[in-house]
Amino acid sequence: MEYISNSEQQTIKIAYDIAGKLNNTDTVVLTGELGAGKTKFMYGIATFFNIQDKISSPTFTIVNEYNLDETINGINTIFHFDVYRIENSIDFIDSIGLEYFSNGLCILEWGENIKEILPKNTIFINILKDDTDENKRIIQVQRGEK
Ligand SMILES: Nc1ncnc2c1ncn2[C@@H]1O[C@H](COP(=O)(O)OP(=O)(O)OP(=O)(O)O)[C@@H](O)[C@H]1O
Ligand SMILES: [Mg+2]
Repeated sequence: MEYISNSEQQTIKIAYDIAGKLNNTDTVVLTGELGAGKTKFMYGIATFFNIQDKISSPTFTIVNEYNLDETINGINTIFHFDVYRIENSIDFIDSIGLEYFSNGLCILEWGENIKEILPKNTIFINILKDDTDENKRIIQVQRGEK
């Protein structure tokens, strides 16, 4: 599936709509170069789950946990990861472990760093910038093997 976004607001809306289709133990990987819109996309997901005012960057903590006030589509807990500082799958297993993946909705920035250990049906979201239009993005969504 591919979406075209022409503004930050459209990206947030696309993310919001995709969030509404997610399940309990889904894993989502957000990819895109600097300034592509990963953080905006996360904001759209967070807005669907009504935690948009609580989220902060997991850059230093690697993972932030959010417990929802009410269960939404079977989802109680969201784990937001930034795997940038973790070089590979072995380091991830050593320092973070694999338990998160079966215990809530996991959203990973820089998840491609640990592609070997991502769950099989991981949803890959790739945000591509456009050379000619600074407000345009192509958002590719793909479930399963990348
Ligand atoms: N269609 C669009 N979708 C998303 N963001 C857009 C769009 N058009 C312009 N922007 C701008 O691009 C920037 C995206 O920033 P954002 O922080 O979400 O990127 P990022 O991928 O998280 O970058 P980083 O890797 O540096 O954290 C924002 O300044 C936003 O206003
Ligand atoms: Mg960001």
